[in-house]
Amino acid sequence: MLHTSSFFKLKPQDSFGNVFIQLTENINTNDLLDHSCTSGSGSGLPFLVQRTVARQITLNECVGKGRYGEVWRGQWQGESVAVKIFSSRDEKSWFRETEIYNTVLLRHENILGFIASDMTSRNSSTQLWLITHFHEMGSLYDYLQLSTLDASSCLRMALSIASGLAHLHVEIFGTQGKPAISHRDLKSKNILVQKNGQCCIADLGLAVMHFQDTNELDVGNNPKVGTKRYMAPEVLDDSIQMDCFESFKRVDIWALGLVLWELARRTVSNGIVEEYKPPFHDAVPSDPSFEDMKKVVCVDQQRPNIPNRWFSDPTLLSMAKLMKECWYQNPSARLTALRIKKTLTKIDNSLDKIKTDI
Ligand SMILES: Nc1ncnc2c1ncn2[C@@H]1O[C@H](COP(=O)(O)OP(=O)(O)OP(=O)(O)O)[C@@H](O)[C@H]1O
Ligand SMILES: [Mg+2]
Repeated sequence: MLHTSSFFKLKPQDSFGNVFIQLTENINTNDLLDHSCTSGSGSGLPFLVQRTVARQITLNECVGKGRYGEVWRGQWQGESVAVKIFSSRDEKSWFRETEIYNTVLLRHENILGFIASDMTSRNSSTQLWLITHFHEMGSLYDYLQLSTLDASSCLRMALSIASGLAHLHVEIFGTQGKPAISHRDLKSKNILVQKNGQCCIADLGLAVMHFQDTNELDVGNNPKVGTKRYMAPEVLDDSIQMDCFESFKRVDIWALGLVLWELARRTVSNGIVEEYKPPFHDAVPSDPSFEDMKKVVCVDQQRPNIPNRWFSDPTLLSMAKLMKECWYQNPSARLTALRIKKTLTKIDNSLDKIKTDI
């Protein structure tokens, strides 16, 4: 049975120093990604190796800036890696994400691949790095600004995101197991596009874990909250039952519905497509306040608009039905990630059938 490692209950500086690991001289990149090379409990390398890898990286260019830090493309032994440099204001997100990746085996094609975490002290300031796989196509948010989709690429992306979320949400028992995890900041900026047309979910700095056997809910101690634009009604009006893990999963599903809507708008049908807009673009200003969102989502109970053209396309029509079932005011009425994954698989199969019938 998995439990939160007591490792991170220590100060991370102490922990790194106290672990004795025989360092192999020439670790190659395949070893990095190989399960057999993990520390045993988490998704990453042994801690001392993580530190060594981090210190062998050269930073090439800044590829993105968020509210709390920067992401750089770096080079490690000839391979591109992504280095997220957290601002000291957001050290709790670095700590939480590091903790989750190091205590839970989180290898899934639709979850951003973790390589290493490192903390260094430079001129009395602390530098926090999180090193992951690099995805040159950037975030789904970036991608949808410039590109449109067809029905099959839309479904491929939607299904991959639902699969990543279903994997996070499920508890798997046994030695290769994992606790149930809810993300709490799902949005198109926290989803990366891979070269194979699938996406992966990133940014676990706010995640919470649940262990069924002990009914332990590990919420971490990050005071940060999710992104206001993507907040579910029960978060906005504070009616969410914070002591119940199911509540957190339902908040993720609300946000997943919004991401499906962003995807569907950029999916061409009969030569028509909408321009990229974030959810509630027509209802709130560009950096909406909590109150702005609460008025729209809780008081007026507005939902994103479904354009008429979607009703004459079988894929978009099915997607519209699906997203509506993510947006019930009553959280317990919403679909689960697994149900969404299964329904998207069915929609995908019927699209294939239409194609072969033609
Ligand atoms: N692994 C990665 N590979 C390639 N690009 C990445 C990777 N991770 C992040 N990025 C890029 O860096 C940008 C900044 O990411 P970051 O998580 O710091 O902020 P954000 O999620 O965009 O916004 P915010 O945190 O303010 O809500 C992303 O939008 C994306 O373009
Ligand atoms: Mg992010």
